[in-house]
Amino acid sequence: MQPATENIQKLKDHREAVILAHNYQRPEVQDIADFVGDSLGLARQAMDTDARVIVFCGVDFMAESAKILNPDKTVLHPDTGAKCPMAAMVDPESLRRFKEKRGLDAVSYVNTTAAVKAVSDICCTSANAVKVVESMPDDVIFVPDSNLGRYVQRFTDKEVVLWPGFCPTHEGITTEDIKRLQQQHPEAQVLAHPECSPEVIDLADRVASTTGMLRYAQQSEGWEFIVATEKELAYRMKKEMPDKHFYVVEQAVCPTMKKITLQKVAAALESMQPEVCLDPEVMEQARRPLERMMEIGR
Ligand code: 13P
Ligand code: SF4
Repeated sequence: MQPATENIQKLKDHREAVILAHNYQRPEVQDIADFVGDSLGLARQAMDTDARVIVFCGVDFMAESAKILNPDKTVLHPDTGAKCPMAAMVDPESLRRFKEKRGLDAVSYVNTTAAVKAVSDICCTSANAVKVVESMPDDVIFVPDSNLGRYVQRFTDKEVVLWPGFCPTHEGITTEDIKRLQQQHPEAQVLAHPECSPEVIDLADRVASTTGMLRYAQQSEGWEFIVATEKELAYRMKKEMPDKHFYVVEQAVCPTMKKITLQKVAAALESMQPEVCLDPEVMEQARRPLERMMEIGR
């Protein structure tokens, strides 16, 4: 075991902590985590753990969701600068006004701030967005990811009113990137995240959440896959499927996910900082739409 890993292990035991990491985390951070997963899987793990302390290796909205669902636990976010830029594309006041104007409920992607969740009716992740929208009684406003909203619209008769948000990392994946990889690896199946543009999604054999893409590759008889999402997902895929081949789009990197390092994880466990602290009222209001989503599941 590397000295940094050994140190984290000791600190983790001492603090009775669990380390949760998103599929886009640096390989060395994934390696020290107790659980690696997609947004929905991580929220579930945060609820199921007996640990008193959760060290959340991911971006802000994920750590906030863990805190909202577990108000009595200490949630540490090793770098508070790890913020999802898409979550900043909608604010609570604009959403409240838009809801009033359209007279519709709002489905918020979990990639939103706690304050936005607090004015939302239900949350969703990429793993359950279609199911969540289908569970609603009427047409919905979908915030903030317009690509995910457009993807959901393919599967429902309800109108999905879009908000003009997007993920810069997924928006940067082009059809040219995918077609070039297809030329190099003609046997490969294309796996795409629904945050990709509709044109990239049209080239995909399978569209799913990050863990959904991994599960598909595990269950498929194919042995070559083009991975149209943040490139680090392929690290976990290769680790769990060493005989299969995964081809990534090299520029598909989420810079804020990479802000979490082993040193920062160790520092957080040592100092018990930075701790996720949210306004109690906002937290209370944000819990309902998150819990409503958790009841729907994957
Ligand atoms: P998943 O929930 O599919 O892991 O996606 C989270 C995310 O931020 C994708 O960019
Ligand atoms: Fe946000 Fe995109 Fe990074 Fe996911 S990949 S955390 S949506 S910026």
